[in-house]
Amino acid sequence: MNTPLNTSHGAARPLGILAALPQELGDLIDAMRAESGVRTVTHGQREYYVGTVHGTPCVVTLARVGKVAAAATASALIHEFDVEAIVFTGVAGGVGGDVHVGDIVVASTLMQHDIDASPLFPRFEVPLLGVSRFTADAALADRLAAACERFVAEEGAACAARFGTREPRVHRGLIVSGDQFVASATAVAALREALPDALAVEMEGAAIAQVCYEYGVPCAVVRTISDTADDHAPGSFMAFLTGIAGTYSNAILARFLGA
Ligand code: ADE
Repeated sequence: MNTPLNTSHGAARPLGILAALPQELGDLIDAMRAESGVRTVTHGQREYYVGTVHGTPCVVTLARVGKVAAAATASALIHEFDVEAIVFTGVAGGVGGDVHVGDIVVASTLMQHDIDASPLFPRFEVPLLGVSRFTADAALADRLAAACERFVAEEGAACAARFGTREPRVHRGLIVSGDQFVASATAVAALREALPDALAVEMEGAAIAQVCYEYGVPCAVVRTISDTADDHAPGSFMAFLTGIAGTYSNAILARFLGA
C-alpha cells in the first residue's frame, strides 16, 4: 500500500494488520524489522509493532483468539495508533460447499453466528446497533482479493504441489465468526442450515468488523481455509497452521502491501 489511503492531514496514517496467532502473520514482523526497524509498544497485554513493511507504514499485532480479544485489539489500534484501516489475516474453517482446504476467502460481509438475543431482537442482530451483517470496505477488499488472485496465479500450482492441497481458489462472500472452534459434522451442518451463504467460519472477523463499523474505520478480512469445520478440523487446523499458513500470509500481504 505505497499509496496512502488518506493523506488529508499530511503524514500517512498507518494501516493496522492483525492476526489471531503468530503463525498466521508469517514473517511480517521480521520483514518490518529488516525494512524500517520496529518500535514495539506494549498496551493492554499486547505488543504492537510499529514500522514500515513492503513500503507501507503499519502497526502489526496479534489479537489472540475470540471476539472479545479481537474487539479489544481493534479498538486499541483505532484509539492508540490512529490506524487508517484494519486488515485481518488468518485461517478459517471452510463452510461453503465448494470451499476447500487451501482456498482463500476474502470477506464481503461478516456476521456473528453465535449472537442471539431473540426473541427480544432478531437472531444474529447486534442488539441496539440494528445490524447483523457488517460490510467490508469495498476498495480494501478488492485490493486484497486482487493480491490473492495474483498469488494464486503466480504460486498456486507450486503451493498445491508442495503442500499436497488442491490448487487454491479465491472466494468472496460471507465470513461468520463466533466464540467456538467448529469441529463436528453436526455443528457445521447446523451452521450451513442457519446461514446457507456462509463461506467460512472463524473466531474474530465479525468482531473487528463491528468495531470498525462503529468507529467508521475501513476494514477487510482474508482467511485461508485450514479445515472444513468437521470432525477432522482439529488435526487439519494444526497441520495447516504450523506448516502452511505463514506461506500464504507472506505471499498475500507482500502483494497487497507492495501494490
Ligand atoms: N479457524 C480455523 N478453523 C476454524 C474452525 N473450524 N472453527 C472456528 N475457527 C476456525
